[in-house]
Amino acid sequence: ADIIAKVRPPEAAEIARLRPGKTLISFFYPSQNKDLLEQAMGTGADIIAMDMVPRISRAQKMDALSSMANIAGYRAVIEASANFGRFFTGQVTAAGKVPPAKVLVVGAGVAGLAAIGAATSLGAITYAFDVRPEVAEQIESMGAEFVYLDFPEAQVDGAATGGYAAPSSPEFRDAQLMKFRELAPQVDIVITTALIPGRDAPMLWTKDMVDAMKPGSVIIDLAAERGGNCELTKADRKIVTANGVTIVGYTDFPSLMAAQSSTLYSTNIRHMLTDLTPAKDGKVVHNMEDDVIRGATVAYRGAITFPPPPPKIQAIAAQKPKEKAKGLTLEERRAKEAADFKTATNVQVTLLGIGTILMLLVGNYAPQSFMGHFVVFMLSCFVGFQVIWNVSHSLHTPLMAVTNAVSGIIILGALAQIGSSSWLVAIVAALSVLIATINIVGGFFVTRRMLAMFHKS
Ligand code: NAI
Repeated sequence: ADIIAKVRPPEAAEIARLRPGKTLISFFYPSQNKDLLEQAMGTGADIIAMDMVPRISRAQKMDALSSMANIAGYRAVIEASANFGRFFTGQVTAAGKVPPAKVLVVGAGVAGLAAIGAATSLGAITYAFDVRPEVAEQIESMGAEFVYLDFPEAQVDGAATGGYAAPSSPEFRDAQLMKFRELAPQVDIVITTALIPGRDAPMLWTKDMVDAMKPGSVIIDLAAERGGNCELTKADRKIVTANGVTIVGYTDFPSLMAAQSSTLYSTNIRHMLTDLTPAKDGKVVHNMEDDVIRGATVAYRGAITFPPPPPKIQAIAAQKPKEKAKGLTLEERRAKEAADFKTATNVQVTLLGIGTILMLLVGNYAPQSFMGHFVVFMLSCFVGFQVIWNVSHSLHTPLMAVTNAVSGIIILGALAQIGSSSWLVAIVAALSVLIATINIVGGFFVTRRMLAMFHKS
């Protein structure tokens, strides 16, 4: 075979059979398998490590780590529910009232977000924590509550590190642990997924927190393979502590949903093959200029090409935190808000004053009929500005409906004027109809595409 696709990292005997010109695609974990990498280099074959596919938008279809983490996150919730022995959703029945389960997800990467989705859809009250503040919006949009820390240093921005988190300071970690200690007696289920690639898992759920949990609570530690986020986790095992807390440290969650994992992983591989054979003629073009192929290639034509240079494109998560104020204490935040409000009010009063003076000046010279129209025009500018400018970017599609309404009014006005005897008025009216129509039709197209994303096929 010219191309060999595998799941697990190859064994030495398998690598020995590779030849120059052949391509091996598989999980490889090059930083942990240095010897294997040296051996692979010696064969002259090209090695693509599926675990090294960079996390950029274009590579998502090939991102096997993400597709497996997605499965692990979902399965973690199913496993938690099997060990929990109570409903996730709150119920009031004739036989008694059942409170909803409280789930805390630590680390809201791919696995964490999948866990949040599964837990909220089962009806649990879900909280989530992450060191990257930019995921707060994602957490909230999935129906969970983001656990904020009152800490002077904003939660670290992970955008600079290719979509992964950077290590946080010891003070930050202390604040984080204090928050977890406060939450431990309240939550029923903890799912930990916190990890920084290439490092051991940070210890975030200590023994005293486990001791503080209610009997019957469950901890699912997805980071078990790298030492675990919970102090008591035993890799590949399920244990029950003296106070009745179940701790699951399985490291093979995707294998527990093998059919699903195979479907997604094989699709990842198929996309990789498509990118490797751009002419669709079965000829491999190993393009080392391509960010994704370069990033995933760990050995190429007899040379080790790991670690890759950082991707040229920013990571998917590269979104600036909305408010820098998130890291301030409550009092500082309130003081800042009050100061901001005062400045904004001062600016508005000044602008209103200037506007009134200008209005009086114009009114002094202009004819009465002009003033009537002019005042209506100014007011509509003001209302339009307030309506459109205050809408956040994430709501721009609903905004399309408003702009379409405005465009509709423009078209009506222009139609009333288009038969004018003045050629200038007729041309301006025709132009207005044209531009407003483009806006409306474009708006419909964009809205349609957005809606298609939510359609279930
Ligand atoms: P990811 O990198 O997308 O997510 C990890 C998240 O943890 C990031 O959002 C990061 O900001 C956060 N994080 C890092 N340090 C933190 C800290 N100190 N406090 C709070 N949050 C912190 O990783 P992904 O793909 O979601 O995987 C998550 C974990 O699941 C990894 O440990 C991975 O090895 C594991 N995994 C386990 C499987 C199993 O069968 N047990 C299967 C697949 C993945």
